[in-house]
Amino acid sequence: MKLLLIYSCLLLVGCAQFKKESRSVVIIEEVGQAEPTVEPQKAVELVSFEKDIEPILLSRCQPCHFTGGKMYEKLPFDTAATVHKLGEELFTRIKDEKEQALIKAFIAQKID
Ligand code: HEC
Repeated sequence: MKLLLIYSCLLLVGCAQFKKESRSVVIIEEVGQAEPTVEPQKAVELVSFEKDIEPILLSRCQPCHFTGGKMYEKLPFDTAATVHKLGEELFTRIKDEKEQALIKAFIAQKID
């Protein structure tokens, strides 16, 4: 009787061991077949009014559209709102393609 108990114990342990091993084999196979899921992150850089847009306007449209200028009251260029309001109308005076692209991107973001 005692022997039978020991035997069945061994059998149980053996089975458990076997199950464990076969499972880990499956897991290893799954891992081996898995597709790489890490994709290169795209850097999304926002265009900033202060850093990208205002310097363009400052360099070209002073003094008239800035504090003290004759157009400051009607069209102040130290605020993003004017850029949103004018949109591509600005391109009648800003012809540089890179600058136009920056302004377009800024307007498309629809944020200050
Ligand atoms: C020497 C002063 C002066 C400078 C510099 C100046 N503006 Fe103006 N701007 C004016 C005046 C005055 C008006 C209103 C009368 C007019 O249309 O000429 C005006 C009007 C505008 C308008 C209204 C629509 C239009 O075309 O008339 C826009 C847009 C404009 N300016 C954009 C700009 C931009 C962009 C710059 C810089 C690249 C700039 N301005 C530089 C004086 C200036």
